[in-house]
Amino acid sequence: MTGLCNGRVVVVTGAGRGLGRAHALAFAAEGAKVVVNDLGVGLDGTGGGAGPAQQVVDEIVASGGEAVAHGGDIATTDGAASLVTTALDAFGRLDTLVNNAGFLRDRMLVNLDEDDWDAVMRVHLKGHFLPLKHAAAYWRAEAKAGRTPDARVINTSSGAGLLGSVGQGNYAAAKAGIVGLTLVAAAEMSRYGVQVNAIAPAARTRMTEQTFAETMAAPGGDAFDAMAPENVSPLVVWLGSAASAGVTGRVFEAEAGRITVMEGWRPGPTADKGARWTPTEAGETTLKLLAASEPPHPVYGAH
Ligand SMILES: NC(=O)c1ccc[n+]([C@@H]2O[C@H](COP(=O)([O-])OP(=O)(O)OC[C@H]3O[C@@H](n4cnc5c(N)ncnc54)[C@H](O)[C@@H]3O)[C@@H](O)[C@H]2O)c1
Repeated sequence: MTGLCNGRVVVVTGAGRGLGRAHALAFAAEGAKVVVNDLGVGLDGTGGGAGPAQQVVDEIVASGGEAVAHGGDIATTDGAASLVTTALDAFGRLDTLVNNAGFLRDRMLVNLDEDDWDAVMRVHLKGHFLPLKHAAAYWRAEAKAGRTPDARVINTSSGAGLLGSVGQGNYAAAKAGIVGLTLVAAAEMSRYGVQVNAIAPAARTRMTEQTFAETMAAPGGDAFDAMAPENVSPLVVWLGSAASAGVTGRVFEAEAGRITVMEGWRPGPTADKGARWTPTEAGETTLKLLAASEPPHPVYGAH
């Protein structure tokens, strides 16, 4: 197979189902060798099994590609470290890491248990940090040995993390954290030849097909199936290829046929007294600044 990622070795976490599966198949179709990671857990992160990862490997191999399964938990040091060693043992190198695995435990904040907070923060935020750290250690060693990599990391945030989402306080906080992590990683790792970007996808998967049944439904006939997860993968494949040289530290929304560059926090209207405000002055000034500022985008699900 030849293509945009010919000869590259790509790890995709949570690639047994949904978006990760679509990414793994799309990378393989562009010539990449793929490590398909998935713990095979249920919708809320419980349970587990090797089936989903192996099924995707079988699909890739059946269409003439190369892939191996990895069944580890990406939010553990062992799981994250063995992701990298699996790529090296099977294919001799690692070029691209796609952090994608995760699950939901949606509740209003007042009902959100500590366990649901911890589980969601762990799988998304730690589950991004640990694979990133272990891949970075490999790439730094490569750079120090004089083989500067052309490496890529694609992290998975969410509209919930960028704009907020009612009923998803744990998930929104984790996904906003992933944006901060992406910015730091891009700045720290450019010297080792590593580019780091994030996407905020939207697609029909088991995570969304019930809550957003109408928006996510597949159309009949030959109409464009806008919410198919396969529509998000082309941007991920390009970001994960050598062709995206120079693009780093950016966040993109990707859904259906649309790609959007998200523009992040930046200073807006400002005032400087050159001395300490009184609280009343601070309030009056702040109200004037707010009147001159862009109103924020609405939080998802807020009325
Ligand atoms: N579907 C959407 O519209 C949407 C929107 C925004 C963000 N996202 C994000 O996209 C990513 C993929 O979601 P999806 O919709 O494809 O969901 P999905 O449930 O179909 O797939 C997620 C996969 O991750 C795996 N996984 C969970 N915990 C794991 C762990 N600790 N180690 C390894 N694998 C693990 C699961 O077994 C599952 O196969 C997630 O990070 C999700 O938050 C999805």
